[in-house]
Amino acid sequence: MSSASSVSSASSVSSASSVSPVNHQVRLAARPSGRPTPADWEFTSEAVPEPGPGQFVVEVSHLSIDPAMRGWMNAGASYIPPVEVGAVMRAGAVGLVTASEHPGFAPGDDVYGTFGVQEYALSDGRGVVKIDTSVADPATYLGALGMPGLTAYFGLLDVGRIKAGDTVVVSGAGGAVGSVAGQIAKIKGCRVIGIAGGADKCRAVTEEFGFDAAIDYRTQDVRKALREHAPGGVDVYFDNVGGQILDAVLTRLARGARVVICGAVSQYNETQVQGPANYLMLLVARATMAGMVIFDYEDRFPAAMAELAGWLQAGQLVSREHVVRGGVSDFPDVLLMLFDGANTGKLVLALDRD
Ligand SMILES: NC(=O)c1ccc[n+]([C@@H]2O[C@H](COP(=O)([O-])OP(=O)(O)OC[C@H]3O[C@@H](n4cnc5c(N)ncnc54)[C@H](OP(=O)(O)O)[C@@H]3O)[C@@H](O)[C@H]2O)c1
Repeated sequence: MSSASSVSSASSVSSASSVSPVNHQVRLAARPSGRPTPADWEFTSEAVPEPGPGQFVVEVSHLSIDPAMRGWMNAGASYIPPVEVGAVMRAGAVGLVTASEHPGFAPGDDVYGTFGVQEYALSDGRGVVKIDTSVADPATYLGALGMPGLTAYFGLLDVGRIKAGDTVVVSGAGGAVGSVAGQIAKIKGCRVIGIAGGADKCRAVTEEFGFDAAIDYRTQDVRKALREHAPGGVDVYFDNVGGQILDAVLTRLARGARVVICGAVSQYNETQVQGPANYLMLLVARATMAGMVIFDYEDRFPAAMAELAGWLQAGQLVSREHVVRGGVSDFPDVLLMLFDGANTGKLVLALDRD
């Protein structure tokens, strides 16, 4: 189901020992200022937990690597509490139930949950869903059939209110959310322009994900390129990156445009966030700009996932995962790949273990 991903080999903690398994973990050691450094992380190991009544143990196989992780490392109020210093780093993940004292989960179940950057997680089942790996690869449940796919779905359909014939612009177009957002807009009959970094990624945006055009923000003037590709203006802008690209797109809005603030990855490592200088273009275009948080749509996840799975099975939607194999100790380096634009599609760390 998933289109094959590029697999690069990171150093692994694996060895062929048969001693009782150890749970390797990555904890937040300090709150970073700017880009995270090795000093912000601590590697710990514990005995693999035993489930108590109402609990089960998950052997984590694939970790979701998300730009939002950078925000979770900061102190202060957000849409979710920060990760505490000393705690296992928060991460969405998929894995296999290996032991259970829980009536709803049995050994052998494949599950998705917020299991953290560790090899084994103890769970009481809250926020955990079973996944069907006969429908799609485990990694796809972190991509098009997971949070990124759902974010693209609700962001475009509910917040962006796209309709056939709209001109839709998506930034971060080669990434997990952006690649799905553009494809959904195409399915719904829109003209879709992607903004991404680099010629290879722009080629993937048009050739693999089927966007009508791609703008390479590293080498092109985004504002000028939009004048060429969207002469009638932009009806919906799905923004994953913020910063200068948001400012450029604001100058090209069509009357009544909707700007969806999904994220602002260009700003996550900045100590001073750059707001949109061109926000008065919202006034000129009688446009709206609205933020969204995927957790607000939880009650509609099953229906949305069914629709996304249908598009995947029908070949209308490509799910691309960028899978890096390694140990949990590779997590800090893999996280930085997002901020270097080194991923195309959903970045996943597939765990090798001792
Ligand atoms: N609101 C929600 O509920 C919600 C849920 C999930 C995700 N999100 C947000 O959605 C966005 C995309 O997340 P994702 O998981 O799909 O990540 P992603 O797009 O797969 O990966 C991040 C990409 O951001 C781009 N990037 C990095 N630094 C940049 C910069 N300075 N300027 C422009 N682009 C830059 C890179 O692509 P290039 O090579 O193109 O630069 C990189 O590959 C993020 O902002 C994330 O926080 C929001």
